[in-house]
Amino acid sequence: MALLKFAVVFLAGFIQLCASQSVDVEVTVSSPDDIVDGESTDVSFSIDFTPFSGAASVINGVSSGTRYTVIAGMFTSDAADVASSIGGTEVTLTSAQASTSLTDGTATTFSSLTASLDLTSEECGNDGSDYTYFCVIVSPDSSGAGWSGVDTSNNTDCAALVCKAVVDLSADTLTITNPDDGVIGVGAGQAIEFEVDLSAPASSDSVSGVSNWAMSMWLSDAASGGTVVALTSVSLTSAQLTIDVTNGSSADIDDLAVTLDLTDITCDEFSYSCVSVEPASGAAWKIQTTDASNSNTVCTAVTCGATIAQISMVFLGLCFLLTSLLMNQS
Ligand SMILES: *[C@@H]1O[C@H](CO)[C@@H](O)[C@H](O)[C@H]1NC(C)=O
Ligand SMILES: *[C@@H]1O[C@H](CO)[C@@H](O)[C@H](O)[C@H]1NC(C)=O
Repeated sequence: MALLKFAVVFLAGFIQLCASQSVDVEVTVSSPDDIVDGESTDVSFSIDFTPFSGAASVINGVSSGTRYTVIAGMFTSDAADVASSIGGTEVTLTSAQASTSLTDGTATTFSSLTASLDLTSEECGNDGSDYTYFCVIVSPDSSGAGWSGVDTSNNTDCAALVCKAVVDLSADTLTITNPDDGVIGVGAGQAIEFEVDLSAPASSDSVSGVSNWAMSMWLSDAASGGTVVALTSVSLTSAQLTIDVTNGSSADIDDLAVTLDLTDITCDEFSYSCVSVEPASGAAWKIQTTDASNSNTVCTAVTCGATIAQISMVFLGLCFLLTSLLMNQS
């Protein structure tokens, strides 16, 4: 009998262990898409908070206002190790959120939350690979009774959010390799092959990653700030996309090709070909906009040539003119 009682108590304890009081947190970031150091950024997000196996009644029993503390920051990994986080801040809950009562097994959404991440004096690293997660930790407020007996090992969740590198990128030279005389024909599509030399000063961050670049080419009537015609984005190979620019050094992106549609363009509209080099949408870097000393656009002088079709039209015209002249003379 004693043995049976022991077994029952043991089993009860075992069931308790299996279904321990616990919580789960899921975070969803709505904005921004990225973040940089040297400034403060408001991150808008929501959390789904779910208690299990009796945790709801423990948390509901804590007096309203000290039930939850929500901490957010930028982390090096989704393990959310607080020791290596930056910009950590406590998120203010509305009074309704602070007194929310929970139900076991049901997710309660705390929406429209804002974490003001102050990275003014923080350094996110040189290439956008150091802080790549925004993490949220939901705990009991230390001034309250706490969540006695609740397993809080899952009281954290992270969302991918990159603290990007800020690069003072310089597009140094644009070299047109084909047509190698730089003569651009109008009246049709014009295929152009070219290369671009890039650099970043030592004081800048670096460009590093597997999808670094977005590039466009156009023709213009000025080497900077002119009218843009035939703007075309350039397709890049994966090898070109992975070319890095380390701060203090330079890199070339070679074997670039584009076809500009010059069907309705006339020769008087351009004397330069220009390229703009930007971060790809998922790149871990941004162009430095404040106090930048370089330009991510570079132009080179080109000349306009009529296409074969136009030349033959002109040639035909000349023949006609000559024939008429000769006929008239005879
Ligand atoms: C925490 O989450 C993991 C992964 O979803 C799960 O396997 C584990 O059982 C959870 N722990 C608790 C205490 O809820
Ligand atoms: C690039 O930046 C890093 C970090 O800011 C710095 O330690 C390094 O010296 C810089 N590289 C060069 C070549 O100056």
